[in-house]
Amino acid sequence: MLWGGRFDKEINSVFLKFSSSIKFDIILLKYDLAVSKAHANMLGACGIISKNETSEIIKGLELIEERFYEGLWNPIDKNYEDIHSAVESYLTELIGEAAKKLHTARSRNDQVATGFRMWIKDAALRLSNLLLELQKTFLDLAGQHTRTIIPGYTHLQRAQPVSFAFHLLAYVEMFERDKTRLQNVFSQADVCPLGSGALAGTTLKIDRNMTARELGFSSVSANAMDSISDRDFVIDFLNSCTIGMMHLSRLSEELILWSSSEWNFIKIDDTLTTGSSLMPQKKNPDAAELIRGKFGRIQGSYVAVSSMMKGLPLSYNRDMQEDKEPAFDSFKTYSESLALMKDIFENIIINNERFIFEIEGDYMLATDIADWLVDHNIPFREAHNIVGKISRYAVENNTKLNDLTINELKDFCEVFDDSVLEILDINSSLDRKISFGAPNPRIVNEHIKSLKKSIEIESVNFNTKKNI
Ligand code: ARG
Repeated sequence: MLWGGRFDKEINSVFLKFSSSIKFDIILLKYDLAVSKAHANMLGACGIISKNETSEIIKGLELIEERFYEGLWNPIDKNYEDIHSAVESYLTELIGEAAKKLHTARSRNDQVATGFRMWIKDAALRLSNLLLELQKTFLDLAGQHTRTIIPGYTHLQRAQPVSFAFHLLAYVEMFERDKTRLQNVFSQADVCPLGSGALAGTTLKIDRNMTARELGFSSVSANAMDSISDRDFVIDFLNSCTIGMMHLSRLSEELILWSSSEWNFIKIDDTLTTGSSLMPQKKNPDAAELIRGKFGRIQGSYVAVSSMMKGLPLSYNRDMQEDKEPAFDSFKTYSESLALMKDIFENIIINNERFIFEIEGDYMLATDIADWLVDHNIPFREAHNIVGKISRYAVENNTKLNDLTINELKDFCEVFDDSVLEILDINSSLDRKISFGAPNPRIVNEHIKSLKKSIEIESVNFNTKKNI
């Protein structure tokens, strides 16, 4: 125990087990060691501890790292309160007296905030790279499907024809926003709280810029109390995971629909589906279902941490230890889902011809007919009404729009002539869409080109301006 002096009784063992975070904050070991090394270097450079003590501490910390990765030290088996106390206690076992100086001018409060910010920065970067990889997969696939016509839906009712490429690009846009959110998480976390002490700084002459620089931060936090109290960066991170995972859950839902016999539009590779223990013919899209389902735990994590923080008085409260498991779990779940989604789309089989005949002459072209009327000087509201009546007539007569004769159409509006029949050709429907952002294959191809150019990079690198 780090704080034994004030107490004359041992901690209750049930309470220790209940309160110990070592089983999950072991993930922070790498960051905690880096924080301690930077702190020891700074204490040495500022003359607060001797050069000898500094190098003993650094060597000791390196030994801890080695022993941990070689499996020679397992702090989880011991009765430690958290990773920070585990490292300090073991360091004392390894190097003796010098270890007792490491905690000079710092508290576990600024220590944990620093290490956790470093973890969040890495996590945001890794998730962004997975999003980048997924975008690349989507753009390659989109390039092959600018003329693969599928119904576009609103209210899950057929609305207007689009292409599969166009549909994929909608997700590429979402992934781009997900990356922007993560970039913001990174910058929010990129402020170093080390040196804020327990909540009110220190009387010792430390150099906060030095530790921040060594740990790769862009700036130091300006108010010690806020530095210790703040977990906004965790909530921002969880919010980004929640929105990103919500996008994946929508995509999963579409994969599930598209792979059903009713849709029969895609086939998910056998390696990413499962069979039924009872029904021999079944092939189930479990990977997509699990991604859809796992959204719940990520949103749950966001709710857990934001409600844990609500109403907490400044500055540190032990409640705040509850910030870690939700963040670790969300990262794991979201990153695995992103990787799996990439595998699904790299091995997907698209039934290109699925809709081409079925939607020829479909009511989905009704808006295009209304636009044709607008082009022939009929006000849109009137055109809408005319085509609405035509659609009803076609439905009642159980016929498709392209089965109607020009005379039947003229009964609804005198202006119609033969050229309107061209509108009913599904193949040219995409080419007729000319507005920026429309599913016209020419526009979509240009969009693919410009997106490919903007993500040509090997990997995301959140270059931030250093202020220290
Ligand atoms: N394990 C703690 C946490 O994650 C570290 C900070 C403990 N600070 C304290 N004053 N008890 O929040």
